[in-house]
Amino acid sequence: MAFNMPESTNPFVPKQALAPTPQLYDELIADCMINLAKVTVSQIPPITSGSVIHDNGCGTGAGTTAIFASISNSPAAISVKATDINDHALEIYRGKAIKNNRPAEAINMNSSELMFEDETFTHSLSNTLLFVLPNDGIDAVKETYRTLKPNGIALFNTWSHVPNMSPIQRAATLTRPPGAPLPRQGLEKWTQASHLTSVLEQGGFEKENIEIKQKEIWATTTVGLERYASMLWSFIGGTGESGWLESDEQNWDRALGVVVEELKKGEGFEELDGGGLRLRFVAHVAVARK
Ligand SMILES: C[S@@+](CC[C@H](N)C(=O)[O-])C[C@H]1O[C@@H](n2cnc3c(N)ncnc32)[C@H](O)[C@@H]1O
Repeated sequence: MAFNMPESTNPFVPKQALAPTPQLYDELIADCMINLAKVTVSQIPPITSGSVIHDNGCGTGAGTTAIFASISNSPAAISVKATDINDHALEIYRGKAIKNNRPAEAINMNSSELMFEDETFTHSLSNTLLFVLPNDGIDAVKETYRTLKPNGIALFNTWSHVPNMSPIQRAATLTRPPGAPLPRQGLEKWTQASHLTSVLEQGGFEKENIEIKQKEIWATTTVGLERYASMLWSFIGGTGESGWLESDEQNWDRALGVVVEELKKGEGFEELDGGGLRLRFVAHVAVARK
């Protein structure tokens, strides 16, 4: 599966589209996922020596970076098992683990069918994972619950507001034939905290052991507006039910123009002096105890 989770297998790709690689993803998310992971990890008491932590759907390692940034004791005193189904992302993850001398191991494993024993982990972190999984991630939550030790803590988060989805959907609406399916439809339900609570309950956590807070997350990109719009449209524009349309190639610049104009309208949007952008996201952060 490509890293941008397309719904379609239509092979057509406009010539202008940048390949949706984990590297492009890293450039696109800038510090957003790390900032979200840091805010998420900061909701729980400090992680102590002997902790065994699962970074579930680890991608290129934002969650693990936040975990190690949060601990003041020796990083060697904890261990992290990171899992994902994308080998390319796991390779990047391993490179970062080696570079930063982290006791972290990256394994190819499906979140919905974990190969870990029951009650393995003291902590589990699913940083922006549930909404990319089938069945709203309920199977993965069940597996998280199963592999957590008694009193263990699971952290989950979802987006309540992202500044970059309505620009994409607006560009799709204005440059594609009427009725063409929009990319990333079906994410709206995740804007409600109640949906996350329901998924966690269906996954086995008891309601009184789930706490959800809404948190503002700011991201600062290193790239300017034009490059950001091009990365965004390339990464997400073709992920809807019909994939890319042949007309997207002719309409490429027009679509980018719409993305640029809509991004500028976002609350808190700022073009920074150094050329980067400041973007405002809002997340639901859940702490669930077994
Ligand atoms: C939005 S990214 C988040 C990555 C990372 N947690 C972060 O904070 O940057 C979602 C990740 O889930 C992974 N993924 C998708 N389906 C999965 C599955 N069934 N099991 C494990 N990982 C999966 C993708 O490969 C991707 O790395």
